[in-house]
Amino acid sequence: MAQVLIFLGPPGAGKGTQAREVARVLGIPHISTGDILREAARKKTSLGLAAKAKMDKGELVPDDVMCTIVEERLGKPDCREGAILDGFPRTIAQAQFLDGILERTGLGEPLVLHIDVDTESVIKRLTARRTCPRCGEIYNVNYLNPPREDGLCDKDGAELLQRADDNEEAIRRRMRAYKQETLPLIDYYERKNALHLVDGNGEPDVITDRLLSLLKTHDYL
Ligand code: AP5
Repeated sequence: MAQVLIFLGPPGAGKGTQAREVARVLGIPHISTGDILREAARKKTSLGLAAKAKMDKGELVPDDVMCTIVEERLGKPDCREGAILDGFPRTIAQAQFLDGILERTGLGEPLVLHIDVDTESVIKRLTARRTCPRCGEIYNVNYLNPPREDGLCDKDGAELLQRADDNEEAIRRRMRAYKQETLPLIDYYERKNALHLVDGNGEPDVITDRLLSLLKTHDYL
């Protein structure tokens, strides 16, 4: 079914970890706005450098910038069969803009999966996150999924990086931005009957199973 899935949840809820896996199973693109911005920052484009200043502090990048990025990405041919949006929308203005894109592209109403996790686990997860700059694989050095060799990606051997915004101060700002700007989306999508709550506590595989069975009940699989 050609439909867009939105993975909604606080920083560290496991949106990226789950979106990668579910996108692989469904064979549709995983669009992470955070990854797109970090890639632009690595390439030192003007957009990337402006975004990096905001991201490192844990603040949101302006709506018009994000909406342009997502409209362009969703317009690519590989999104005709649907896509997973991870990190977008994050404000009511972004959600309203997305409604317009979905109508224009014929992708219809989105299915919103709200992955929720308690704040204490989020901080524990984020301060221990490491990411592969080459393939995007996500690790956690404290528990569950540390790399086999310290500091190196299991898949391609690249040196793992810690995100500049994964420190306590930036995490607190990101949580604040989530509560103020993103939580109103719960109500927005509930009113459209598009919202589904998924418990994000537990082992990653268990959460993937929860997501996939929910998608099955909505004839997505
Ligand atoms: P973004 O990259 O989207 O960051 P985020 O929303 O803060 O989410 P995270 O990537 O931190 O967490 P996640 O839920 O993906 O968790 P993950 O799977 O990695 O955005 C970054 C910044 O970009 C924003 O602050 C903003 O500045 C800007 N931005 C992006 N989009 C924007 C937009 N639309 N509008 C405005 N600004 C925007 O997992 C986290 C860790 O937990 C990992 O170590 C993982 O291994 C571990 N883990 C995962 N699952 C489990 C589990 N079940 N149990 C234990 N550990 C787990």
